Amino acid sequence: MKIVITGARGQLGLTLQKYLSAAKYELVPLTHSDLDISDEGAVNQTLAKLKPDVIINTAAYTAVDTAETDDLTARAANATGPKNLARWAAKNKSYLIHISTDFVFSGCNSRPYKTDDQTDPLSIYGRTKLEGELHSRYLAPDNCLVLRTSWVYSESGKNFVKTMLRLMADKDSLNVVADQIGTPSSTWGLARCIEACLQKKPLGILHWTDAGVASWYDFAVAIQDEAMSAGLLNKTIPVHAITTAQYPTPAKRPAYSVLDKTATIESLNCEPVHWRHELAAVIKRIKTGS
Ligand SMILES: NC(=O)c1ccc[n+]([C@@H]2O[C@H](COP(=O)([O-])OP(=O)(O)OC[C@H]3O[C@@H](n4cnc5c(N)ncnc54)[C@H](OP(=O)(O)O)[C@@H]3O)[C@@H](O)[C@H]2O)c1
Repeated sequence: MKIVITGARGQLGLTLQKYLSAAKYELVPLTHSDLDISDEGAVNQTLAKLKPDVIINTAAYTAVDTAETDDLTARAANATGPKNLARWAAKNKSYLIHISTDFVFSGCNSRPYKTDDQTDPLSIYGRTKLEGELHSRYLAPDNCLVLRTSWVYSESGKNFVKTMLRLMADKDSLNVVADQIGTPSSTWGLARCIEACLQKKPLGILHWTDAGVASWYDFAVAIQDEAMSAGLLNKTIPVHAITTAQYPTPAKRPAYSVLDKTATIESLNCEPVHWRHELAAVIKRIKTGS
């Protein structure tokens, strides 16, 4: 199975290259400079040459706050990009796995979001990601899976875990938002789910995160605990719970964005691991540099 991975230098792109066995799959990782997915001509030319059986689109503009003032670039990557990939996939009978986000929801729910719940993004990032979902599903209904996830982190790239570790090493105390509830997702759990998709090739929309629920505050406290146990930090600092109102950001974020994974677990026979266990594994990778 020949698999093109777009956005190959991102968090998920890097993990997929390590996780998907080279013995089983022919991987073609394409970085942003190898292929700008918003360039239709480049997409058509590159994919025509490579003829992949599967395209995993991990490429995205993920700077949620910057997107508020850079909507053209965000839309090019998050909406036009998947549109170009979906059009090619449908025409050439390739299977497209397009990664999307919990930020397509407004966060007004009080129970986990199902795949067919009403979308209502609060930010430019969320809106452009929703446009990407709609293009993919409209253009490649028989060839495309939209896989939504949330709070993605790994040992590489920019993410909440690495930011917390840096701040915990440098500062005397930290304030972290406690009234936004969701679920962290290790790229390793996500890669396991994606491999199950490669076998079963589901279509439509599925949700994937680690198991469990947390606030950013809970996540930060757990990061400090796991990092202390692993010897990555040599002192603890007080972590204070604050409200979203006390930490204003350019982009609005959903207050509650837990994703319901029932359909995914049933259709893929793939169970998520609790976020705390996945976190411990990633902290270990950071510690050992693996
Ligand atoms: N990070 C999260 O918390 C989170 C949460 C929910 C869903 N997701 C989704 O999960 C997927 C993977 O996220 P991630 O955290 O791995 O993202 P990431 O680390 O930010 O990586 C995204 C990659 O896409 C590349 N890229 C940006 N614009 C591109 C374009 N026009 N053409 C080709 N490549 C482009 C970036 O390259 P440059 O850096 O060179 O621009 C970067 O290497 C994305 O679809 C994201 O929306 C992420």
